[in-house]
Amino acid sequence: MQSRLNKIREEAKAQIESARTQTEIEEIRVRLLGKKGVLTQILRGMGQLSPEERKETGQMTNKVRSEIENMLGEKFEAAKRAAKEAQFKIEKVDVTEPGKGRSLGVKHPLTITMEEISKVFMNMGFSIVEGPEVETVFNNFDALNAGPNHPARDMTDTFYITEDVLLRTQTSPVQVRTLMKQKPPIKVISPGRCFRCDTPDATHSPMFHQIEGLVVDEGITMADLKGTLDSFAKQLFGPETKTKFRPHHFPFTEPSAEVDVSCFKCGGKGCRVCKGSGWIEILGCGMVHPNVLKVGGLDTEKYTGFAFGLGVERVAMLKYGVDDIRLFYENDMRFIEQFK
Ligand code: DAH
Repeated sequence: MQSRLNKIREEAKAQIESARTQTEIEEIRVRLLGKKGVLTQILRGMGQLSPEERKETGQMTNKVRSEIENMLGEKFEAAKRAAKEAQFKIEKVDVTEPGKGRSLGVKHPLTITMEEISKVFMNMGFSIVEGPEVETVFNNFDALNAGPNHPARDMTDTFYITEDVLLRTQTSPVQVRTLMKQKPPIKVISPGRCFRCDTPDATHSPMFHQIEGLVVDEGITMADLKGTLDSFAKQLFGPETKTKFRPHHFPFTEPSAEVDVSCFKCGGKGCRVCKGSGWIEILGCGMVHPNVLKVGGLDTEKYTGFAFGLGVERVAMLKYGVDDIRLFYENDMRFIEQFK
């Protein structure tokens, strides 16, 4: 019996030593010490033995049993520790590791330019109004005194959606919307997108931005127009800036003018930016045509006004020395990030 128990113990020891996980150890425990385990069977079979033999066998068996229990217990604890350590290894957090860098977005150069221009006008008491990019032919042309034979109405310049609806070719229809909604005094600017059927090249894009201006009140004169735009140019391009008003034609203003500013690069001597002339054209303007004021139902004997329209891309290109308008729309971060 002793040798049988020794054998059982040695086999148990080998099995326990080779076990790796808590589950494996539990399986061994059930196999050896459970109800159907070998040791239980020996103890059960003791009824047939003599009292002395029973005592001796019982003691020996219980000793082996408690030895195996100890081995199992130790091994179980060791496996538990190993499992925990493995778990810690997986879940390890290195608090000294540098954090993930988040790249911050930047404002688009056109947004920066529009905000800068808007700020100058807001400081002069203008408020901002907006109009839709999809406009009626009436607001974009007819109400702006551009008769049916005006060259801008040609299909090649305008994206028509239906016969009466188009993508606005200018921000000027916001003048019409404002006049129909608001009574004088009116003093507004309106930045926004415009669309023209142009093939993209270095200076043309089928989508571009304008800022429209409209001032209507009693007694507004050309002197107000000149004073406002001259002050604007000095605030945007620097206090040394001079302005020049050249006669021009727009259907919705009379008289009309184009405004040149003295070159902010060379100060007027002549350089690459101003193409040697010393002057740079920046906007169109004029006194609001009575036919436009009439759209708002205004008494044109009492009220007068001035308007202006400015190309945002053109100003941004001049200010930042960008020589191709298409760069604004490619959204290459290497370009956009330079304007931080
Ligand atoms: N709408 C004109 C254009 O797109 C620009 C313009 C000129 C607007 C004169 C005006 C203005 O308000 O008075 O070319």
